[in-house]
Amino acid sequence: MRGLSFNEETLTWYRFPNNFFWGAATSAYQVEGNNSNSDWWEWEKRAGKEPSGAACRSYELYKQDFDLAKELNHNAHRLSIEWSRIEPQPGQFSLKELEHYKDVILALKERGLEPIVTLHHFTNPKWLAREGGWQNKKAPAYFLNFVQKAVDFLCADVRFWVTINEPMVYVYHAYILGQWPPQERSARKAKAVTDNLVSAHIKAYRAIHGIYKQRNLQNCFVSIAKNIQFFAPCTSNPGNKFASWLRDRYYNLDFIRRLLRYKSLDYIGINYYSRSAVELKKLGFRNLFVDVCENKGHSKLRKNSLGWDIYPQGLYELLIRFKRFNLPLFILENGICTEDDNLRWDFIQEHLKAVNRAIVEGVNVMGYIYWSLIDNFEWDKGFRPRFGLIGVDYNTYKRTIRESARKFAQVPKTGTLSE
Ligand code: FCB
Repeated sequence: MRGLSFNEETLTWYRFPNNFFWGAATSAYQVEGNNSNSDWWEWEKRAGKEPSGAACRSYELYKQDFDLAKELNHNAHRLSIEWSRIEPQPGQFSLKELEHYKDVILALKERGLEPIVTLHHFTNPKWLAREGGWQNKKAPAYFLNFVQKAVDFLCADVRFWVTINEPMVYVYHAYILGQWPPQERSARKAKAVTDNLVSAHIKAYRAIHGIYKQRNLQNCFVSIAKNIQFFAPCTSNPGNKFASWLRDRYYNLDFIRRLLRYKSLDYIGINYYSRSAVELKKLGFRNLFVDVCENKGHSKLRKNSLGWDIYPQGLYELLIRFKRFNLPLFILENGICTEDDNLRWDFIQEHLKAVNRAIVEGVNVMGYIYWSLIDNFEWDKGFRPRFGLIGVDYNTYKRTIRESARKFAQVPKTGTLSE
């Protein structure tokens, strides 16, 4: 059944398809704690950043987290497994960690939550970083080796795989902006890493399907989680217009197009947060790819606590544009960090309306996964940004369900957003 939106003078409601997936996401490094074999672990210390430390202690407390997700009527949950735990040394796999992740996945299924499992969410084993990380030509083969081992072990209980989380965010932060390890600022290296990520995905896609076939398992669905942004020129100056167009192509579309050429997507995972106001400081090659308007007074839009514009219309427009790919779309992240929980609920509602509108206009959307289930470690920004439906007290690790989460819980319960 397609979505339906209904409008009366006093009541507006938005109906979502039956079998829609509803849930929230986390990633291993951001919630588990003590991922000491990961490149980020070393880098946080070297770069003098707030350390991830015990994070949310979800490595131990995951059952509590999933109980809460169930209480909130979720029927799906996105999480990642940590490569550096499973393969702490090249070619040496830890059965104990694989078993841990099997327990985690079974804990989801016992609670009626569909596991959506990400294989790479920004962090790498230390040993890979020492060998040049994703610049190394061997990186796709190393990744494949890990994927084969992990998927072979977990496949019986997983239908949805995400090979790589936000490859272009990774390339931008680590190899263009120089903000994340290995803090490079090189177009040449960015290109090499992008090519390796494309190749890693394609290899993983084929291997995963191969394993399901060989084991005679029901079919699985493999994709990436693609971060997309709504790029808008800050002023109508032709340079800004051109840069917006270019960034849309390079950042939003190129990676997906390359994967489509190899028929290596079963659905398209979409992460959407914000709009980016493009304003060139000068006409230079690098400027075309990185410059944004820094005058906060320019935009009248509300912002999250990190200063990102709130722009639900952008999600609607991008969903409509992505219809052309003729694949189901799955929103794998959408969320807000804020101290104001009313704003969080407003954000969720407005984005759900945008999704509903796209569904009514014929876009095939499979589900909506909020980022994040619980407050967590927001990379180089540390623990200050609060993205969670559930708050975390970092002294006691106590979880507290926020009011916005309770309101959101009504949507999966009724299949309807009403106001
Ligand atoms: C996304 C990341 C996720 C989290 C959110 C806020 O880009 O995938 O790990 O940091 O942003």
